[in-house]
Amino acid sequence: MDKAARYKELKAEIESVVAGETSVTARYATASCILSQAFAPRFFWTGFYVVDPLKDQELVVGPYQGTLGCLRIPFGKGVCGHVAATREPIIVSDVHEFPGHIACDSASNSEVVVPVFDGDGNLAAVLDVDSTELDAFDPVDQAGLLAICETLLTA
Ligand code: SME
Repeated sequence: MDKAARYKELKAEIESVVAGETSVTARYATASCILSQAFAPRFFWTGFYVVDPLKDQELVVGPYQGTLGCLRIPFGKGVCGHVAATREPIIVSDVHEFPGHIACDSASNSEVVVPVFDGDGNLAAVLDVDSTELDAFDPVDQAGLLAICETLLTA
């Protein structure tokens, strides 16, 4: 099965597991677990940084799979903060060349980060996937993760 088809299958699986579940934490935890398992070991760190309801310009770590993540990331800082500020997904093939990259774990070499919106179109979180490989992610990963995140809070 090619990667795009695999993402489609995983989206259906995640939607079926979280169907009827109103807890956003449970939804994020399910998605991070299913994605991390499906693409191990390429997905070294898979998880969510959520917009802190008490500080609207700051992300705080949410459910994730992987090594210890930083707890907070201000909007505009690092790759996740960049995506929070721009609301646009990004693929970074070498994180060491990204200005202001936050190295939670020095084993990470590339990453893809996509925004997660709530039903009102407000930014709720970003999904961050890191790899120990350089250049581990392509537009198929970005599109697959975006499609999963598009309905994660609403489906
Ligand atoms: N890579 C992220 C930081 C978070 S972790 O790697 C878990 C960034 O620069 O936004």
